Amino acid sequence: MPIELTLNGEAITLDIDPRTPLLDVLRDRHGLTGAKAVCREGFCGACTVHIDGQAVPSCLRPIGLLQGCSIVTVEGLAPPGTLNRVQQAFIDHDVVQCGMCFPGMVMTLTDFLDREPTPTRDQIKAALVGNICRCTGYERIIDAVLSLQAEGVA
Ligand code: FES
Ligand code: FES
Repeated sequence: MPIELTLNGEAITLDIDPRTPLLDVLRDRHGLTGAKAVCREGFCGACTVHIDGQAVPSCLRPIGLLQGCSIVTVEGLAPPGTLNRVQQAFIDHDVVQCGMCFPGMVMTLTDFLDREPTPTRDQIKAALVGNICRCTGYERIIDAVLSLQAEGVA
């Protein structure tokens, strides 16, 4: 049965093995390579996207379970040529992350701030528990997120 869903605001229909991970659909069929294939076991957070507004690892979501869902990837977070508030805060606060972990962190923190607009430092740490940076660059990330509160844009 064809799978119909919305991808970055566009309605699409997929005729595909329903067991195919969303991550592979994004990367291999749609050229959306922001979600990264790293552990493929749900541990690293590099493949995080939004499904119906919630940040989840796309490597663990078979496409067949996503009938009617709205998927947003890091490519669709903001209009072309613009950045969302988390991306902008990372730049403003010199958060230097690699391309493997950066997109997943942006997706996780965007969802988190939608639900928790005025988080504490500890809450931000807890929100990032599923996004692994092997370089331990977390402090600047947390500072950047806290800055959004200070600037009143969280
Ligand atoms: S690749 Fe999906 S959580 Fe690591
Ligand atoms: S900066 Fe990406 S894993 Fe550390």
